[in-house]
This record gives sequence, C-alpha cells and structure tokens, in this order.
Amino acid sequence: MPLLIRGGTVVNHDHSRRADVLIHGETIAAVATAIEAPAGSAIIDAGGCYVMPGGIDPHTHLEMPFMGTVTADDFESGTKAALTGGTTMVVDHCLPDPGQSLLSAYQDWRRKSEVAAADYGFHMAVTSWSKQIHDEMETVVKTYGINTFKHFMAYKGALMVNDDELYNSFARCAGLGAMPLVHAENGDIVARMQEAMMARGVTGPEGHAYSRPPEVEGEATNRAIMIADMTGTPLYVVHTSCREAHEAIARARAAGKRVYGEPLIQHLLLDAREYASKDWNHSAQRVMSPPFRDKVHQDSLWAGLQAGSLQVVATDHCAFTTEQKRFGLDDFRKIPNGTGGLEDRMPLLWTAGVGTGRLTKEEFVAVTSANIARILNIYPRKGAVATGSDADLVVWDPAATKAIRASTQFSRIDYNVFEGFTCTGAPAITLSRGKIAWKDGDLRAGKGDGRYIERPAFPPVHVANSTWKELTAPRAVPRGPVTP
Ligand code: URP
Ligand code: ZN
Ligand code: ZN
Ligand code: ZN
Repeated sequence: MPLLIRGGTVVNHDHSRRADVLIHGETIAAVATAIEAPAGSAIIDAGGCYVMPGGIDPHTHLEMPFMGTVTADDFESGTKAALTGGTTMVVDHCLPDPGQSLLSAYQDWRRKSEVAAADYGFHMAVTSWSKQIHDEMETVVKTYGINTFKHFMAYKGALMVNDDELYNSFARCAGLGAMPLVHAENGDIVARMQEAMMARGVTGPEGHAYSRPPEVEGEATNRAIMIADMTGTPLYVVHTSCREAHEAIARARAAGKRVYGEPLIQHLLLDAREYASKDWNHSAQRVMSPPFRDKVHQDSLWAGLQAGSLQVVATDHCAFTTEQKRFGLDDFRKIPNGTGGLEDRMPLLWTAGVGTGRLTKEEFVAVTSANIARILNIYPRKGAVATGSDADLVVWDPAATKAIRASTQFSRIDYNVFEGFTCTGAPAITLSRGKIAWKDGDLRAGKGDGRYIERPAFPPVHVANSTWKELTAPRAVPRGPVTP
C-alpha cells in the first residue's frame, strides 16, 4: 500500500520546501508539491510539521562488554529508544576481544544485532596490530561492508593502541578506501594522572574528570591528525569535547586536511559541575570519557557546528545502571565509562540548537543525518528526503513538548543524565524504511525489524584525498653518478 505524507515542509540539509512525500514499499517514490494520492494509499497529514530524514547516530555501544561488565541496552532496547526520538539508524562498535579475529568478532556482533528494531551498521575496532589484523581488514571492508575502523588512544592496558599501531592501521585504511576513527585522549598521561589523583585521595567521580583534562584530548587529536596526514587518509574524531580538540580539527581543515569532528549531545548541554555533586550516584552516572567540560568548551563546540568545522552530533550511547557504576565506589578508575542519550539526541538538539537560533533546521538535518551519511558513504540512500532514498523519515512536530524522565524512557537504565530537561520539538511519527515505527507515543517497531546496512569503500572524499596525496607525494631527485 503506497503511503502519502501530505501537507508538511520537507527539510533537507541544503533546502526546505513545502512538499508531499510519496512512499512505495521501503523507498521514497516522489517528493513534489500536491501529489495526488494513488488509489488505496494511506495518508499521513503532516500539516504544521517538518518532514526530515531520520536521524543517524554513528556512535553507540549496545550490548558491549566493557570495564568488566556489559552495557545495559542491547540492540533491541537501544534501537527502540532511538526510534522514539527520531533516530532510524545507529552505527555500533564491533569490539574484538584481545586476540580475537576481526571476522569472528563481526559474526558475534551480527548475532547480537539480529534483535535490532532499526537499521544499523558497525565500525570495526582495531585494538592491536598483527599481520592477521592487516589481512582481515580487507575482508571486513570488501565482504562485510564496513568502511570505518575505530582506534582508542586511551584505555591503557585494554583497548589502547600506540602511534606505531595507529600508523599501520591508518595506512591500511588509506589503501582499502576506509576511514579511521579515533577516540583521542593521551592514554599514557591519563593513566599517570589517575594514579596521581588516587595518591592525593581524590577517589570519587571528580577524579575521573581531573585525570582527563582538555589538554590530553587536544594533544591526542593533533597527533591523530598528523598520523592520518602522514599515511594519506581522511580522519574522523569521535566525541570531540573541548576547545583544544575542536581547534586542532579546525586548523587541520583550514590547511586542506580531510578531518571530521563529532561532538556529543551530552558535551553540548552538560558541564563539569556534574562531577561536583555531593551525591556520588549523580556524579558517577555522568562518568564518561572524555568527561564533561567547563562552559567555555561548550561554546566552542556550538560554534564549530555553526561554522562547519564540526560536522556530526552523536551520543556515544553506552548505558550502565547505577548498580554497574557502583563497581567504582572506592576508586573512580573502576566506574564503567559511558552515558546514554539515544532517544533524546534529536529533541534536545532541536530545542537547544534550532529553538535558540544557534542552528537552522537545515543545519540540524546536516548534523543529525546528512553529513554522517556522506562520511559513511551511504548518502543519499540515508540522510535525504529524495526520490529513491530509503523512507527513513521523521514527521517532526515543532510544537510538541517532551519532558525527559528516566521513569518514562525506553532505555533500560534507571536514570537519565538529562532528567528534568524539557524539549520543544519532537517526532510525531518515525518511519523506518516506509513502516511506521513510532506514532503519537506508540512504539510499533518490533524486535528484528532493523536491517544491517553495508557501506561501500572509497567515498568521494577518500578518492580526492588519495589523488591529491599521490600528486604531491615526495619524489626522488634524479641525479647522475656522483663525481669524485
Ligand atoms: O565513556 C565512554 N565514552 N564510553 C564508551 C567507550 C568510548 O570511549 O567511546
Ligand atoms: Zn505509484
Ligand atoms: Zn571513546
Ligand atoms: Zn564510544
């Protein structure tokens, strides 16, 4: 049965216009003014609403083993939460155990993700280096359709890789047409700072923030950018949280480097005062890496979204219950790192961005879907309201209000770091490949409705960057025999 969304304003990253949207099956068949409803079609009245691409959250950790426990939201609860907030695709992290083959880790993640209610893809983590990993990366890209590899410059003794390993993996990415991602914090210095905090008796969650100041993120961001440049690959920096990291990215982009930055909705709205609470639970629930920063850093991140020097707003949804957080009651180093946000990202960003005039609604679409779809090389299949695109859509009611409360959320954890925030602007309807997944407070998407999305290698920016790198590569100086 065809579906016609009538009377709304279609918002894409580059323009908005009054238009109807006709959907056949899973895809958009037409976007035009005054489309006549085909016989037998269902009709959605979008009067007073915006019709936008469903959000893409490129940074989640669902059912992930981490710091001695496993994240509380799995692919079912996480993607259902996402759909209620207008997000129709997530990109999760496939994290091999130490020594585990990338290929078997991929199979594990495919099994876990069978319950997903929304579409999903994976980044593959590279947490060490070997010939096996070098070889398997090719299969990951060419057979599994994964064109991004994640690297942790922090979490020493667990996931962290050193500069030599980064160079090897980045160079391999360059050759395969894949993009390296980095968690940029200097893990050696973080480990030393953590010891120093414990030695000073700073054992609570505030010690977490003190041990990972903006300087360690700025340094690592600069270093990752340099290594990417040396190996000739574009680079994506996840959870950019501070001015120092933003400035490193902006400086690189101004010098022609292909570098992208991803602030999280948490860092845009929450600040370091969260760690000064007298309530241990409150502060521990907000322990994540990088930690929340002082206000001046938030201003820098918002400016980056406005200037285009930062491109994507994500969540790094990595949810742990209060009980799990309590593993670190006597030692902040044992508090599982991570916060939630999947169902709140879009309404919060609309409220704090579009509602305040910091972002246009087109910029909102850019940073919640279109930009990351291009970076991931799935545009315009995802991230656009256009003929031929997947019908992943949100009918956005700018007048709807939503009070964020843990007691009514879809995420499985027992608190919400945005508790008490009220959003103006929320999805009335979320469509996932043409099916109504969420409508007026009713979750209709089911377990297993999501589909694995393959992403081809060699996005246009990669090709352009490699071409330029080859053209400007060092050349040997031709010389005759050296005369005595
Ligand atoms: O604290 C965080 N961000 N936890 C999830 C793992 C990561 O670093 O992204
Ligand atoms: Zn038709
Ligand atoms: Zn990270
Ligand atoms: Zn993460």
